[in-house]
Amino acid sequence: MRRRDFLKTGAAALVVTPMPALGDTVRRYRIEAGPASARLGEQGAAATDLWLYNGTSPGPEITALRGETLEVEFTNRLDVPTTMHWHGIRNLNEMDGVPNLTQAAIEPGESFTYRFPLKDAGTFWYHAHSKGWEQLARGLYGPLVVAETELPDPTRDVTLVADDWRLTDDYQLHEDSFGSLMDWSHQGRLGNWLTVNGKTDPVVSVAPGTVRLRLINAANARVLALRLEHKAPMRVVALDGAPCDPFDLQTIRLAPAQRADVMVEMPAGQLRLEEVSTGEPIGAAMLQADGAASPAAAQPEVTAWYDRPDLSGARVIDVHMQGGAMGNLALAEFEGEVLALRDLAQEHAKLWAFNGIVGGYHHQLADLALGEVAMLRVWNDTRWQHSMHLHGHHFWVDSKEFGEMARRVLRDTYLMAPGERADLVFVADNPGMWLFHCHMMEHHAAGMGAVISVT
Ligand code: C2O
Ligand code: CU
Repeated sequence: MRRRDFLKTGAAALVVTPMPALGDTVRRYRIEAGPASARLGEQGAAATDLWLYNGTSPGPEITALRGETLEVEFTNRLDVPTTMHWHGIRNLNEMDGVPNLTQAAIEPGESFTYRFPLKDAGTFWYHAHSKGWEQLARGLYGPLVVAETELPDPTRDVTLVADDWRLTDDYQLHEDSFGSLMDWSHQGRLGNWLTVNGKTDPVVSVAPGTVRLRLINAANARVLALRLEHKAPMRVVALDGAPCDPFDLQTIRLAPAQRADVMVEMPAGQLRLEEVSTGEPIGAAMLQADGAASPAAAQPEVTAWYDRPDLSGARVIDVHMQGGAMGNLALAEFEGEVLALRDLAQEHAKLWAFNGIVGGYHHQLADLALGEVAMLRVWNDTRWQHSMHLHGHHFWVDSKEFGEMARRVLRDTYLMAPGERADLVFVADNPGMWLFHCHMMEHHAAGMGAVISVT
């Protein structure tokens, strides 16, 4: 048989027996990162110069269905290198978007196609992962919603991306404080201006009746606290994309990078969403429902992505978190050298460590065998809270984020109180090099991160 005939037969065979594989349907997006301006302030305020995806803040909402393949053709129109990270997606390692770990940084003018199957439905987000402390603060992030069976109806299923910007009096980014070691050694770069979906206290039209709010905290460092006026209950149904046993809350705290899906009973008229982390309520968004209530669409049955594994034989990975202002870190290893904290700070802008080692891609916390059960036994031995994120996996944690009683939840980012010890349990079922880091972007930049490999 000549080669040409062989090819013909091969192609014919493919047509005759289609493989019903995951990701048969490809959902395509085109995204460009570049300088752009947007009005973050109130009506009449000056526009702010930012770096944005497709010129909008937040970037375009990507929606898709579970089981599809997402393909994003990305072009970098910034004058610095960047990458895109798909936060919370149990992704292929080479699509995870960590420069110098899972891919080369995408240089100015270059393109890169991200292509990966969406195996879970839930609320995710995407953001730059190159100098994140600066690129996120300049606006490089957007929401990613994967639905179970049908694309969300935006009046019943509403994505609200909150951010905390640090603006000057004339509504420009406060650039002088980028890289401030004061921020880096304390809570991170807190802002002074809250937006939801890139606007100040926007009016969001919804349908009366039961509405799902997908809350996303895109702030660099601020732990947001959101509640409805009159303390109307919010029924939490998913955390970091993953469904949970539903429970009611009046105020939900969301650490940087965390998401929560909450169900709200929307009366006809208005209901204000407020941010109360400073003790002084400020308007986050005004939900506005017009018309008569219609019965809520049935929610598809959802179950946990995977059960908490049996811990007998689990690999324990100790992570002693150290450093920061008023901390206990005198010396730490950085690029093979042991240095005093003062030198680390002044010469290298490093302030935090795991197990005595300032974080970087060279610091490997563990090398796990594919399928191994692992437990990150994390001790926050610092005076600060931290928003600990694992790439490529969701972990089970007995969470103390929702009050006194621990609540066992599956999530990808866990807010740890000062002094807290927590066990993050996961099955290392995704091969590759995965970051574990604090999502308070300044803490990560200053050393709070390391790598876990799964082979
Ligand atoms: Cu939201 Cu390392 O990422
Ligand atoms: Cu931190």
